[in-house]
Amino acid sequence: MTTLNNKKIILGVTGSIAAYKAATLVRLLVKEGADVKVVMTNAAKQFITPLTMATLSKHPVQVEFFNPENGDWNSHVKLGLWADLMLIAPASANTIGKMACGIADNLLLTTYLSARCPVALAPAMDLDMYAHVAQQQNLALLRLRGVHVVEPPFGELASGLQGQGRMEEPEEIVRFVQMLLEKKACLSGKHFVVTAGPTYENIDAVRFIGNSSSGKMGYAIAEELACRGARVTLISGPVHMAVRRPGITLCKVASAKEMYEAAVRFFPDSDGAIMAAAVADFTPESCVEGKLKRGKDALSITLTPTKDIAAHLGSIKKENQTLVGFALEVANEHANALKKLREKNLDIIVLNSLNDPNAGFNFDTNKVCIIDKTGKEASYALKSKVEVAKDIVDTLSEWAA
Ligand code: CTP
Repeated sequence: MTTLNNKKIILGVTGSIAAYKAATLVRLLVKEGADVKVVMTNAAKQFITPLTMATLSKHPVQVEFFNPENGDWNSHVKLGLWADLMLIAPASANTIGKMACGIADNLLLTTYLSARCPVALAPAMDLDMYAHVAQQQNLALLRLRGVHVVEPPFGELASGLQGQGRMEEPEEIVRFVQMLLEKKACLSGKHFVVTAGPTYENIDAVRFIGNSSSGKMGYAIAEELACRGARVTLISGPVHMAVRRPGITLCKVASAKEMYEAAVRFFPDSDGAIMAAAVADFTPESCVEGKLKRGKDALSITLTPTKDIAAHLGSIKKENQTLVGFALEVANEHANALKKLREKNLDIIVLNSLNDPNAGFNFDTNKVCIIDKTGKEASYALKSKVEVAKDIVDTLSEWAA
């Protein structure tokens, strides 16, 4: 099914090395059923040819106010009124600055000023330009005026530097456009807490009891929430993962106790929490100072139960908060998941079974069944954790709407 059927989109392309990605972008938008007209700045033509963009969009590309051959006027007013969305990708620092100031010295800018439809832009520039206070103030001003910004992710830039500033990938921009035009699943203004990864329970200064949770599921959920505009506090146990997206504040913890304390701190000011961490259920009664010495006798360690973080959040949850838990089960999967949903006062539970090959702990893929407290449930095929995160956030969005 095409998701952008009959949607009219103006794609503004400005002078940035990321302009080469605009070709893929237009192709993907057209594939989704959109009618795309491209407006380019003169600088953009240095990076990608109008011929490429015209061929892919199946419309002539507009650059100048007038056709120099016959004096025909390229009406920015008509174009602005025609569109359901104006998307500027890549948006250079120069164009963003001019948009913020209301400067109208090219067709792209006059079209922007005439457009009555929603406007989105995907910035593309080097990290220091992006971080510059002038740039950030321009973006803040445009956001205040209702312009939607597709945040650049962190990563390698054309300059070879690492940081935030490169344009988001075309596939992600298309998803942003779909969300914007469907007006669904937009979580801007919401704040969610996500727990991820294992916990380490210390036996002595150098040894611990842990588990092999990779954190991949929790990090994918945090990214998906941030991608849909939510602010995320990611409480993470020790993992080898990096936060890639702005909008995610990382709170690193090690033990179940630290994770509990962080969750209790951040949950009250949130719209909900997703408990993807594999929290230890038991912790050594006491932690030996220094290092345990080798001995000839058997050694026993007394373990005491940890606090159930999800159950505690369930007990303090307010009506407008949504709580999502996971259930990793080996037997009686369904019944056990429903029991956890009830006993922890969750709204949604994500069931994964240890019996499914390639699913759960440490894999890149997962196979889940999502059940809500009204009894509605959906089973999904084995997919990448990034895709599973989308299914979970889709379900959450319905609750948090
Ligand atoms: N959980 C938690 N705090 C704990 C234990 C679990 O927040 N101390 C959360 C997990 O993050 C998950 C849900 O509770 O969202 C269920 O975790 P799971 O390990 O499947 O179940 P447990 O409640 O620990 O019970 P059991 O291990 O006996 O199945």
